Amino acid sequence: MMECRTEPKMRKGCNIMHIIDHPLVQHKLAILRDVKTGPKEFREMVREITMLICYEAMRDLPLMPVQVDTPLETAACHMINGKKLAVVPILRAGLGMMEGVLDLVPAAKVGHIGVYRDPASLEPNKYYFKMPPDIADRIVFLVDPMLATGGSVCESVRLLKEEGCTQINLMSIVAAPEGVAKVKAAHPDVEIYVAALDRELNDHGYIMPGLGDAGDRVFGTK
Ligand code: PRP
Ligand code: URA
Repeated sequence: MMECRTEPKMRKGCNIMHIIDHPLVQHKLAILRDVKTGPKEFREMVREITMLICYEAMRDLPLMPVQVDTPLETAACHMINGKKLAVVPILRAGLGMMEGVLDLVPAAKVGHIGVYRDPASLEPNKYYFKMPPDIADRIVFLVDPMLATGGSVCESVRLLKEEGCTQINLMSIVAAPEGVAKVKAAHPDVEIYVAALDRELNDHGYIMPGLGDAGDRVFGTK
């Protein structure tokens, strides 16, 4: 029988960044970056890439043994055990990723964090925060396609910790080195999963080469 894990073997406290370089992810990311990709296909790619990142990010979830009656006999199987999960999108663009997580884990509860980045100062401004009442007892998967300066993610993680969350994982699609460094410094206990680590930020805080404004591309607002 397969080894059964009842505790997550996550590397908590060491802030590992995982770059998901699977060919399927990289192929879909190329489509996502393309300026010619319209909102419909952009949303589809965000959702599909998120499912593939999620597959990796949830690799260490604890399992419990269960007996299942097949049509022929009883089989020794495993199901996910332990803490329940929550997906927390950072509005707006995180909503596109949330769909991908819920495709795989439909029973996950959803919390929403509204943070927008001031275009001049690039500082995060919170405008909405709503969590499931038992969020502190859940493993949280915070989702935002863009990790640029890291301000929005750091503020979101701070708010989640204020609610008592102790197991927070970040899933992004494109990250800048500056944002990764900021999250690592402020929250070394947060595990980071991304599809790409890009070159740098430009003078306006956009990730280069990046994919532009993710919120506008998900919702077709520009
Ligand atoms: C974008 C993006 C991130 C944030 C990243 O959102 O979706 O949330 O910027 O930048 P940072 O790492 O420098 O904080 P934006 O603030 O443009 O809001 P929107 O999703 O509502 O467009
Ligand atoms: N937010 C985005 O949507 N894109 C970037 O490149 C940086 C911040």
